[in-house]
Amino acid sequence: MPSSSNHSSTTAPVITIDGPSGSGKGTISQYLAGELGWHHLDSGALYRLLAYAALQQALPLDDAAALVQLAARLSDSYQLPTPDNPAIMLDGVDVGQALRTEKCAEAASKTAALPAVRKALLAWQRHYRQPPGLIADGRDMGTVVFPDAALKLFLTARPEVRAMRRYNQLKNKGILVDLKELVREVEARDQRDASRKASPLMPAGDAMIVDNSDQDEARTLQQVLQAVHDVL
Ligand code: DC
Repeated sequence: MPSSSNHSSTTAPVITIDGPSGSGKGTISQYLAGELGWHHLDSGALYRLLAYAALQQALPLDDAAALVQLAARLSDSYQLPTPDNPAIMLDGVDVGQALRTEKCAEAASKTAALPAVRKALLAWQRHYRQPPGLIADGRDMGTVVFPDAALKLFLTARPEVRAMRRYNQLKNKGILVDLKELVREVEARDQRDASRKASPLMPAGDAMIVDNSDQDEARTLQQVLQAVHDVL
């Protein structure tokens, strides 16, 4: 995590980009962070990292106390990747690919439903708010973690469109999966993320909603950049 934690960290501007997986928020967030020269928090990566480490240690995914302890240990040692240093390292091992698997996403979605786990990750996530600013991407960035964000965006697309994007990504990597099964997985994960009691996936009341089901990435980017220029 960024090392300095002075007073200015609480006042550095934040733009939040929330939405379900496959909504394109990761690509847009990285692009925006690069354009503005701001920090980027991929909060899903923290949830995935915690879930991955829990699986490694064979911790039950509903053992909140053990997960909270694990989160404390990880937050002390883990560094989010940067454009100069893109590898996601855990205990000296590059776990970037392992974190992107469906198994890890599934485990992250389960552990993320535990209120104690979400609470344990709050300070860790807020620590990334450092000058000159932060692009925070996740599910509850605008609703819970950074409710005072300068701009809140909620990116979304229909489940079958998001599953198709994932299908194509995997196909490009030479991995063939059953599309219908993928649609079911996407819907099941959406359902769990949106129906959990603790910080469910939903747009903040003051978020701008961008449904990009029927538009390409360039158009989404154009809309987002316009919104950013309107507030900065
Ligand atoms: O964005 P992602 O697919 O990497 O997120 C992985 C899981 O982590 C997802 O199922 C929901 C959870 N998550 C969350 O609950 N809150 C966040 N801010 C980010 C991710």
